[in-house]
Amino acid sequence: MNKNAKDRLIFALDVDDFDQARYWVQTLKDNVGVFKIGKQLFTRCGPEVVKMVVDQGADVFLDLKYHDIPNTVAKAAIEATRLGVRIFNVHALGGAQMMRTAVTEVEAYCRQVGCPRPQMLAVTILTSSDQATLTEIGIERPLEDMVVRLARLAQAAGCDGVVASPKEAALIHAACGDGFAIVTPGVRPAFAAQDDQKRIMTPADAIAAGATALVIGRPISAAADPLAAAGQILAEISAALGG
Ligand code: C5P
Repeated sequence: MNKNAKDRLIFALDVDDFDQARYWVQTLKDNVGVFKIGKQLFTRCGPEVVKMVVDQGADVFLDLKYHDIPNTVAKAAIEATRLGVRIFNVHALGGAQMMRTAVTEVEAYCRQVGCPRPQMLAVTILTSSDQATLTEIGIERPLEDMVVRLARLAQAAGCDGVVASPKEAALIHAACGDGFAIVTPGVRPAFAAQDDQKRIMTPADAIAAGATALVIGRPISAAADPLAAAGQILAEISAALGG
């Protein structure tokens, strides 16, 4: 098993309350390295839920997609860092200055307190948006051009990577190169249902297309044996990385 595979499997903690979140971390932490906490769980439970995951020895991806004036995003990013998250994200549509200010201030904070800097990812265009959504808000460029443009902008502003559809991974990898993280939801192993995801790929195909980590929820949580399902996905990631 590739030793990095576990850090590339991110479980989406899409649950309603603290107890369910704790149940999933306890159940899965042997096969899952990172737990994604999004707006619902964070709004319900607050920083305590981040602390719970960290206390169990797992990493947190705080998926709050910050998008605000540069100073506000930078201050929120420092608070995320203070909580001990390993990954957090911002909207690239907030612009280069917003992203650069956040990276610079988080770096300065980490130097000051002597902690590792979390990975800062950018969301390019949400996969729930299509060309009509862009037109609606006055963007006439092709959606794929926008995704690549925003990924490049995020990279130039100092972000460590992007969150993107696996279908966009190859384009982004070609534009931004190795070493730029591409974290992809919309991944479905062969054994799982498609659910409401429309543009899916298997874990192996997503890694082959350039994804560096996978966000997976229901294929694990809805499985008869969730830990075993996570183990199967881990083995697939590991094999795709070359064992
Ligand atoms: O259960 P499932 O594997 O579909 O969960 C995927 C997770 O990734 C969910 O938390 C979902 O909100 C998130 N996500 C997504 N598509 C995006 C961005 C995030 O499915 N474009």
